[in-house]
Amino acid sequence: MSTIKACIFDLDGVIVDTAVYHYKAWKRLADQLGLSFTEHDNELLKGVSRVRSLEIILELNHVTKTAEEQTELATQKNNWYVDMINQMTPAEILPGAKEFLEACRAAGIKTALGSASKNSSTILAKINMAHLFDAIVDGNHVSKAKPDPEVFLKGAEALGVSPAECVVFEDAIAGVEAAINGGMKVVGIGEPAVLNRANIVVSGLDKMSLELLHSL
Ligand code: BG6
Ligand code: MG
Repeated sequence: MSTIKACIFDLDGVIVDTAVYHYKAWKRLADQLGLSFTEHDNELLKGVSRVRSLEIILELNHVTKTAEEQTELATQKNNWYVDMINQMTPAEILPGAKEFLEACRAAGIKTALGSASKNSSTILAKINMAHLFDAIVDGNHVSKAKPDPEVFLKGAEALGVSPAECVVFEDAIAGVEAAINGGMKVVGIGEPAVLNRANIVVSGLDKMSLELLHSL
């Protein structure tokens, strides 16, 4: 008998592909500052908080900014990012994401969001999926970023289940580490070679099933 009672989902890269919007907004900021920033660099920002993302871009360019300047720059980037996510529609839900959440709920498995983003409510409203989560924990509710397990532990607590009863779905290395650090099972979404610490890795939620979930 499976002990899995809840599934906790990362947002960016698992439910929707917002990495492209993050990239466009950071690229615009980098161009404005005369800094180099490539799509390859963008990989380093996955699962990482907004402030830390800016720090990484500055570090890659050996540039320093005061705390005040950093806040201003991160706000500017976020304004551009928000303009883009405000245009999102349910057509941008990644294949199988909605169907898998619905299948979990129909089977009595609880669902939570566990995201580093402070924009999760905007995105969930735009793609019309907020009602599919029993609990939502995002960057507005945590003080410690992934790989710290805080975001997932708060999700489990909100659902009233223990960490060992949870399965996390994550596309970022830091997120996989966070789930493991929280004592949870984890399904990697992406490349097995990259997410090699996950219990299993699939290319997307369209490859998930309740059977596979209960086999973990
Ligand atoms: C994560 C993304 O989900 O959210 C990161 O993978 C992003 O790339 C982080 O930096 C913070 O997002 P936001 O929306 O609060 O700027
Ligand atoms: Mg992600």
